[in-house]
Amino acid sequence: MQFNTLMLALTATPALASFNFNPLEHSAGISPYFSPHNPPIAVSPPQGCNVTRAAFLIRHAAIYANDFDYESYLEPLVKKLRNTTQDWAATQSLRFLANWTAPVDDEHLEKLTRFGMQQAMLLGADIRQRYNHLEIPKKVWSSTADRTVKSAEAFLAGYTHNNTKLVNLTQIEESKKLGADSLTPYKSCKAYSSSYGSKQSSKFIDVYTKPIIARLKAEAPRFNFTQDDITAMFEFCGYETVIRGDSPFCAPTLFNADEWLGFEYANDIMYFHNTGYGRELSPSLGFPWVNATVSALDDESSSQELYVSFTHRELPPTVITALGLYNNSAFTGANDVNQTMPNNTINYNRAWKSSEILPFLTNIAIEKMSCESPGFDEGSYYRVLNNASPQPLVGCRDGPGGSCSQDQFLKFIKTRGESYGDFNKACDGDDLPSSLSIYEA
Ligand SMILES: *[C@@H]1O[C@H](CO)[C@@H](O)[C@H](O)[C@H]1NC(C)=O
Ligand SMILES: *[C@@H]1O[C@H](CO)[C@@H](O)[C@H](O)[C@H]1NC(C)=O
Ligand SMILES: *[C@@H]1O[C@H](CO)[C@@H](O)[C@H](O)[C@H]1NC(C)=O
Ligand SMILES: *[C@@H]1O[C@H](CO)[C@@H](O)[C@H](O)[C@H]1NC(C)=O
Ligand SMILES: *[C@@H]1O[C@H](CO)[C@@H](O)[C@H](O)[C@H]1NC(C)=O
Ligand SMILES: *[C@@H]1O[C@H](CO)[C@@H](O)[C@H](O)[C@H]1NC(C)=O
Ligand SMILES: *[C@@H]1O[C@H](CO)[C@@H](O)[C@H](O)[C@H]1NC(C)=O
Ligand SMILES: *[C@@H]1O[C@H](CO)[C@@H](O)[C@H](O)[C@H]1NC(C)=O
Ligand SMILES: *[C@@H]1O[C@H](CO)[C@@H](O)[C@H](O)[C@H]1NC(C)=O
Ligand SMILES: *[C@@H]1O[C@H](CO)[C@@H](O)[C@H](O)[C@H]1NC(C)=O
Repeated sequence: MQFNTLMLALTATPALASFNFNPLEHSAGISPYFSPHNPPIAVSPPQGCNVTRAAFLIRHAAIYANDFDYESYLEPLVKKLRNTTQDWAATQSLRFLANWTAPVDDEHLEKLTRFGMQQAMLLGADIRQRYNHLEIPKKVWSSTADRTVKSAEAFLAGYTHNNTKLVNLTQIEESKKLGADSLTPYKSCKAYSSSYGSKQSSKFIDVYTKPIIARLKAEAPRFNFTQDDITAMFEFCGYETVIRGDSPFCAPTLFNADEWLGFEYANDIMYFHNTGYGRELSPSLGFPWVNATVSALDDESSSQELYVSFTHRELPPTVITALGLYNNSAFTGANDVNQTMPNNTINYNRAWKSSEILPFLTNIAIEKMSCESPGFDEGSYYRVLNNASPQPLVGCRDGPGGSCSQDQFLKFIKTRGESYGDFNKACDGDDLPSSLSIYEA
């Protein structure tokens, strides 16, 4: 019987046929929203537990392109394509370029796409369904950029079934003066720079683009492909998809899985040093949101049961480090951060994957649960989810389904605060507000 079942399983999923690679799940900051189910723990609360409060930190939904990507990569490639003598119809994998037109110009930069708006609405509807038993919040929060505000509005349309008057949207300035008291604390941190990580990733960009350039040059000798052209082509897969619905740049005949993993890893190195474990500063940028959120969830008298806030791609990864998640060094007994992200070869088994950490609409949730689970003390437990995948905390998972008991969790947060709670010191800064107060009623 068991043997037959096993045989059936083997015939049903032959190893070759089951390999299904999706470049959009390896597009780093340009990945459309997806839930990686990694680790594969159920999103529904563990047996015997109900969620009593929850908080979400959400990156804005898909945009046409940001200024940096457009100016550095996309626009130069488009201009070069308009002025080339290369005959694309004579090539194989690049034939589509004969008739391709750019999906973005400088008019729509930084704006949400229609697809992005729909995804934000769907997330709102999904969260309403998952937390139908929680009170409708009085407020949600967003930083002031057009794309974060529009994401929050679309989310609320989905969450309230278009009854958006039920909830007030509070906008928080993206101001340098607010210190930790905003949804964009990195903007007021002197020690932070948006260019961190580009030097570290440059070495690996040399490594992974070299064979691609050689291959494409053989096909299209008159075009003179550069590293930046290759980056632009990978980026167009994601951007064109969230603008038009699909893109010839995603075709497996253009870039194979290995090449996509190279593009992803170069991005992972960059984000690792920009807002991840590669910089000691990172957890201090994420801690204020964690601390304020835990206070709001812990306090039985706080004004809401559900807290939702919208920000940019920089904040979620710093929150991840403040919580100690996706730490390549966890369980190694060492903390050699740079060794875990070599710049000449891919560490395939790394935990730090930017496509999982910061796709469009990425969302980190902290849930407070009331549990009566067999084998566990009755009481309150906490868990963290990233894009609907529960992420058990390192050293704080004594509860059902990898959750953490209230006492342990509050101790865990306090200990993190002792290491990472001094915003002004970490930022080498002025005497700016050092905690986040927006959730205080
Ligand atoms: C077009 O290409 C030619 C030849 O490579 C170059 O001399 C010229 O500057 C280019 N024009 C533009 C507008 O880029
Ligand atoms: C480009 O479009 C033209 C006109 O529609 C068509 O004749 C041609 O076959 C297309 N070229 C390629 C390479 O698809
Ligand atoms: C939204 O804010 C307005 C103005 O402050 C207030 O009158 C209204 O009651 C608020 N709505 C909710 C749902 O809290
Ligand atoms: C809300 O309105 C939008 C367009 O205005 C519509 O597409 C959507 O179906 C509506 N949603 C609900 C739940 O009624
Ligand atoms: C690449 O890694 C080596 C070995 O760790 C290091 O010495 C070198 O500085 C790194 N290069 C860059 C550009 O970060
Ligand atoms: C090809 O591109 C490289 C790098 O941008 C540049 O240095 C070189 O002059 C270009 N060659 C031709 C023939 O345009
Ligand atoms: C990552 O894990 C290592 C090894 O356990 C640990 O020493 C380090 O403090 C962790 N980093 C953070 C920011 O939690
Ligand atoms: C990791 O590398 C960066 C430069 O790439 C360096 O500033 C930092 O000190 C290194 N960290 C450790 C722990 O060696
Ligand atoms: C969870 O909710 C269900 C349905 O409302 C209720 O029967 C159960 O007692 C609750 N369990 C806990 C631990 O709160
Ligand atoms: C953490 O939250 C507590 C309670 O709200 C607050 O008193 C403290 O200043 C906060 N600390 C930081 C570093 O955010």
